[in-house]
Amino acid sequence: MNRRRFLRDLLSGAAALACTPALLRAATGNDVATGFATGLRRHPWMAGWKNMDAESLGPTAATLRGRWPKGLAGTLYRNGPARFERDGFRYSHWFDGDGMVHAWRVGERGVSHRARMVATPKYTREQAAGRFLYPAVGTTVPDARAIRNNDDANVANTSVAVIGGRLFALWEGGSAFELEPDSLVTRGPTTWREDLALAPFSAHPLRDRDGSWWNFGSISLLGGAGLLVWHLGADGRLLGATQLATEQHGYLHSFAMTDRHLVFMLMPFRFSEAGAFFERMHFAPDLPCRVAVVPKSAPDTARWFDVDFAAVYHFGDAFERDGEIHVRAVRHTDPAGASSPMAATMRGEREPAPTSGQLRTLRLDLRSGRARWQTHADHVMEFPLFDPRTPGDRPARLYAPTAVTPDVPYFNAVMSFDPERDRRQLHRYGDRVLAEEHVFVPRPGSRKPGQGWLVGTLLDADRGRSGLAVLDAEHVDDGPLAEAWLPYTFPLGFHGAFAGV
Ligand SMILES: [Fe+2]
Repeated sequence: MNRRRFLRDLLSGAAALACTPALLRAATGNDVATGFATGLRRHPWMAGWKNMDAESLGPTAATLRGRWPKGLAGTLYRNGPARFERDGFRYSHWFDGDGMVHAWRVGERGVSHRARMVATPKYTREQAAGRFLYPAVGTTVPDARAIRNNDDANVANTSVAVIGGRLFALWEGGSAFELEPDSLVTRGPTTWREDLALAPFSAHPLRDRDGSWWNFGSISLLGGAGLLVWHLGADGRLLGATQLATEQHGYLHSFAMTDRHLVFMLMPFRFSEAGAFFERMHFAPDLPCRVAVVPKSAPDTARWFDVDFAAVYHFGDAFERDGEIHVRAVRHTDPAGASSPMAATMRGEREPAPTSGQLRTLRLDLRSGRARWQTHADHVMEFPLFDPRTPGDRPARLYAPTAVTPDVPYFNAVMSFDPERDRRQLHRYGDRVLAEEHVFVPRPGSRKPGQGWLVGTLLDADRGRSGLAVLDAEHVDDGPLAEAWLPYTFPLGFHGAFAGV
């Protein structure tokens, strides 16, 4: 299939994104809004999923506690769903909210915060209309307009990347939206090459040791099969965009990388007839996951492995040792719940503390062609990150939020975890303080993997404040070196990236 034909098929498939009419469930969005308002009054921590009316926040100086580490200076950018409600209608799926990008500017002189909604065409038109106009990926929106292409539904709400000095807000089914790095004003969707306009640029690009970036775009989201493999230079210029054929459709949210290979794990699913994408998409645990091991030197080729089904959104490090690839993955044991996390909270209903989300290692034997899962200690975790300086034949230490008490159904601690020895260091923020992803920032001048800080965001709704903590990555159980707190709260996000000065 030639390139032009491939993209034309891809974009015509956009009709499958979320457009199927399902009117029966549509009227419930108003009940969801009422239910959430009641839930939020009872459970202040539900502020993590509240609606954000404002188009921007700040800049606001944070109140500092502790001693800011010398040498830690730059900006932590973060992204997450924030606009959940319009005209009395509330989305029922967390992934549907329009994206708000945050910039935490940190340094010895202080910490400040500002945030701004990403001005996608969807957000801008809906602001003007005063109601939701377009289909969402997880909620059936009543009277939604037909979308012309995938970017009509793009909410740019999942992650951020700083590539070649440019700041991007990322989603998984459409274009990267470029933002002005200081003001966070939206510049618009990015076209890496004219014939690739609108092609999906996923939310989890990975930076290689040479400074270049790998990413994928999934055609499954648009109803087809196949992956687009992106390669960008350190300066942000396109080095390659290659189609990788896949025999069947499968869902993937992120991928893993060794020095030589990209690893894509496709989770099998079946579509039911009606509804938004995540209402129609049902994981098929009776089928194996198909795993593509793709040489960076030939990204249009793959060696395929089958492995027992696992629902995985996020991978940690991957390394190659003795002819085997080891890939760290956070596996969810409830496939249905994994496709709509925090679903009860989105309706304002209390849900149990998380018990799903355990580290497993996907082991791919390059000699025998066999794949299997290796188990580790059953600590609940998500959003694992690591020091990318770790050599490619050695395991990395993982840094991840974890849940240690059942007071809130979310993470309330952070851990540093050594999967080889099943050993961890832990810091508890408090039973009712919600903890998000903690980004690893190398200490300037250091060379040894693991020497640096963890910068993580927090929500302390009982005290009406969102904040940020800094920990020494080698001494997580000592707790934060410093914290910075704001006089307001905002909804939780998903992923961030730190840009040093
Ligand atoms: Fe993610």
